[in-house]
Amino acid sequence: MAGVYNKKYPVVKHEETAPGQRLLCLDAPEIALGSAPGQFLHVRCSEGRDPLLRRPISIHFAEREGGRVCILYRVAGRGTSLLARVAPGDHVDVLGPLGRGYTLPSAGERVAVVGGGIGAAPLFFLLAEMRKYYGRYLDRVSVFLGAHTLEALPGAALIREMGYHLDIATDDGSGGFKGTVADLFREASGNRTFDRVYACGPPPMLRVLAAAVGPGPAVEVSVEERMGCGVGACLSCACRVRSAGGAVEYAHVCRDGPVFNLKDLVL
Ligand SMILES: Cc1cc2nc3c(=O)[nH]c(=O)nc-3n(C[C@H](O)[C@H](O)[C@H](O)COP(=O)(O)OP(=O)(O)OC[C@H]3O[C@@H](n4cnc5c(N)ncnc54)[C@H](O)[C@@H]3O)c2cc1C
Ligand code: FES
Repeated sequence: MAGVYNKKYPVVKHEETAPGQRLLCLDAPEIALGSAPGQFLHVRCSEGRDPLLRRPISIHFAEREGGRVCILYRVAGRGTSLLARVAPGDHVDVLGPLGRGYTLPSAGERVAVVGGGIGAAPLFFLLAEMRKYYGRYLDRVSVFLGAHTLEALPGAALIREMGYHLDIATDDGSGGFKGTVADLFREASGNRTFDRVYACGPPPMLRVLAAAVGPGPAVEVSVEERMGCGVGACLSCACRVRSAGGAVEYAHVCRDGPVFNLKDLVL
């Protein structure tokens, strides 16, 4: 497979960014150079056989010049708890970059970027790339991020520093709109029009988004599914999609996604 690497890369940074969330950066020049927003790394979380399977985690940021690639992850269970123990100087075995990422917007399109919880992780790389290639249209981009609490919201300051307009939603009302980011987006769509929407978050959020967005904009969403091989060989990551003729078929999240056109997904 062209442009996919499997090596143990040195950890150059690993820190807690919010309770239960960690930023891990690896010195992985070839991955940093070859990755696109929305792609993911398949990470071996421990040196041993437990857990046996790798864990898929989106590329949060790739610093092409510096050769670094970073992931932002929530400590969810066995694998990520073991990963949380690695320290700078240790090496982590990753396979990647994998999957199909987001399509960048065309010049001048009005864009919304919508992230729920840790699902916002891959959107930073997308925003960084858009700033590079789409810089003079930044005022046409609206970013919506949501989390349970303000403390759990990843990277709001960074997004504002990049020059984006950011609206936030928190379930407990500790910051911004009180409610979900999908509800916030639905409210905003009442007085703003978008040509293109990018999203990442849990399935309930994507369902509300699908209802809010209407038939107009092109919507690309990143889907999360449990994975085995990560490369299309084991069928464990099947998701239901609609073919051009309207029939329901199965796609591989690892190979055909994780980014899909929302209209193609059967949510
Ligand atoms: C393409 C892709 C990109 C992802 N990017 C990120 C990311 O950037 N940051 C991040 O924190 N997480 C991300 N995830 C989710 C991440 O893979 C899971 O949280 C991780 O595999 C959990 O492993 P674990 O061994 O710690 O937990 P487990 O013990 O395996 O499970 C703990 C809990 O997490 C749920 N879970 C496990 N695997 C997945 C999965 N693949 N998708 C959804 N829920 C799962 C389980 O149902 C269970 O409730 C991504 C998933 C996919 C498919
Ligand atoms: S994880 Fe094996 S086919 Fe997708």
